[in-house]
Amino acid sequence: MGISFKEVKHQYPGLKKNEYVAALNGINLDISGKDEFVAIVGKTGSGKSTLVQHMNALLLPTSGVVSIDDFVITPKKKKNPKLKPIRKKIGFVFQFPEYQLFEESVLKDIMFAPINFGFTKEEALENAKKAAELLGISSDLLEKSPFNLSGGQMRKVAIAGILAYNPDILLLDEPTRGLDPKTALEVMQIFSKINKDMHKTIIVITHDMNIVYEYADRVIGMKDGLIHFDGTPKELFSSPKYLECHLTKPDILKLIDYLNQRLNLNLSYDIKTENELIAKLKDVSL
Ligand SMILES: Nc1ncnc2c1ncn2[C@@H]1O[C@H](COP(=O)(O)OP(=O)(O)OP(=O)(O)O)[C@@H](O)[C@H]1O
Ligand SMILES: [Mg+2]
Repeated sequence: MGISFKEVKHQYPGLKKNEYVAALNGINLDISGKDEFVAIVGKTGSGKSTLVQHMNALLLPTSGVVSIDDFVITPKKKKNPKLKPIRKKIGFVFQFPEYQLFEESVLKDIMFAPINFGFTKEEALENAKKAAELLGISSDLLEKSPFNLSGGQMRKVAIAGILAYNPDILLLDEPTRGLDPKTALEVMQIFSKINKDMHKTIIVITHDMNIVYEYADRVIGMKDGLIHFDGTPKELFSSPKYLECHLTKPDILKLIDYLNQRLNLNLSYDIKTENELIAKLKDVSL
């Protein structure tokens, strides 16, 4: 299971005839699909959502080729394979997934996609219950209308609906945007668990550099419709590339910089959490 981009460009139609907006300007990229936790970052309008929507053929390239497993996606619609198997392998959680909810009960909503992808009703029910449990959706919520839930609960229901058909790769467009910090943390911990325990690849667009530093193994920095950086979070924030991508450092690195400067320490960027920092500081004689 892998995704590869070869010289992919994407243009949206502009407001006037014969005008267009260039969103991707020649992307070359390989994602192996084996347990990777990839963060996609960059300034607003840099092409992140457009890039990710090519990864399950929600958008087709204007030129170039996207390969998803054995499927080859080209600009010509007619030549393209049937897309349903791709969508089943690669689950997409939109920027505001709660807008996708429409069934009369939470349980029916979570069961909708698996049934659509050919699971039996019994399998769909079992998967829906497991996904709800993983996301901490209590059983009394399952019979409620999804429209009577809070924003955070709705977000969890939408994510459970994707997990219930067991995709190999999860694409998440700003999954924690608009959530309170505690729910955001819970949701990220669930994705981390899905990555580590269920060996699924997570590809997440985020503006939150704390998330990038704590969870991602690999970070792709977008700039003007191109990949400006591709490497580990530590490499990104140790180079000027993070500034060129209009990013700020995660809180933990700001703190490390401050401590290094003020106390003349040499703490490394391998430290990812406050607890790790405290443990390191205990070893340092101040
Ligand atoms: N449906 C559309 N029609 C026309 N232009 C679009 C459309 N969607 C995006 N664009 C343009 O394509 C470029 C890339 O947009 P995209 O949504 O991929 O950026 P992004 O990095 O996801 O931004 P954000 O962080 O704000 O979500 C921008 O210039 C944007 O204005
Ligand atoms: Mg976007």
